[in-house]
Amino acid sequence: MKPLILSGRANPGLARSIADALGVALGRCDIEIFPDNEYIVEIHDDAQGRDLYLIQPTQPPVADNLMELMLLADAGRRAGAGRITAVIPYYGYARQDRREAGQKPLSARLVADILCTRMDRLVTVHLHNPAIEGFFPIPVHRLAAFDLMAAALADAVPADTGVIVAPDLGAVKMAHGYADILNMPVVVIHKVRESGKSVSVRRIIGDVKDRSPILVDDMISTGGTIAKATEALLEAGCRPEITVAATHGLMVGDCLEKFARLPIRRTIISDSIGRETAPQGVQVVGLGKRIAETISRLNRTAE
Ligand code: R5P
Repeated sequence: MKPLILSGRANPGLARSIADALGVALGRCDIEIFPDNEYIVEIHDDAQGRDLYLIQPTQPPVADNLMELMLLADAGRRAGAGRITAVIPYYGYARQDRREAGQKPLSARLVADILCTRMDRLVTVHLHNPAIEGFFPIPVHRLAAFDLMAAALADAVPADTGVIVAPDLGAVKMAHGYADILNMPVVVIHKVRESGKSVSVRRIIGDVKDRSPILVDDMISTGGTIAKATEALLEAGCRPEITVAATHGLMVGDCLEKFARLPIRRTIISDSIGRETAPQGVQVVGLGKRIAETISRLNRTAE
């Protein structure tokens, strides 16, 4: 039986490219908002007995997108769908993956618990911390994207003058993934986060003098990490031609303005985050085919 692919409102463009790559039509559903801000959701295709794939990154507005996803799953469950898979290319709250001191929640775990009330599987892309998989008692399929991004950067900087830069310790493993493909050395920045909006750089581990840096990260949110890293790299004598590659381009607030003030020549993100038009001057790599391959494999296993 053909799977039913449905999209929430967060990223219909990516959902369409997944459905196209699978050679199926995107399922039909309605999502309306009542005047009091409640959602009302209805699936129009027959879901009975069909595996259901719900495409919805939990990007801003995070709580609304999560709720939409859960309502679609509930509708599918009550309609007798087979296995329900949440396809969350960008997993919101992933950065709150440990409980810091004080009376704080473990938010990434809470999101996992909420998802598990209706989902049978999760497909996600470049999870901020792979250990989040351990929050789920259901199968989690974590897809990589760095190889697609690196391939798109093949002609960005010559290998003998380029350097891959991890803007914090969490990005080191990914930086090595890029470095292997692009055949460049890796440099690591010791970043300290002071608050949700502000970070500072302690030191740069490695040599960037007269090299053209490619800064790689899992996500760009406010752009603070990349901006501070860029300033530190320039101070350390790199060439004033920076390339930035990040899987999840949230790019909130004045991120683009921050980038425009710096010698950032090229920024590349994936289409994990839905938006009407790509941010100006930013190159976007499609994830549709990669996600479709996984759905297709999961569905074959089901037959
Ligand atoms: C942090 O651990 C992440 O990998 C990113 O470096 C960070 O979340 C980016 O956020 P912002 O763009 O607001 O600095």
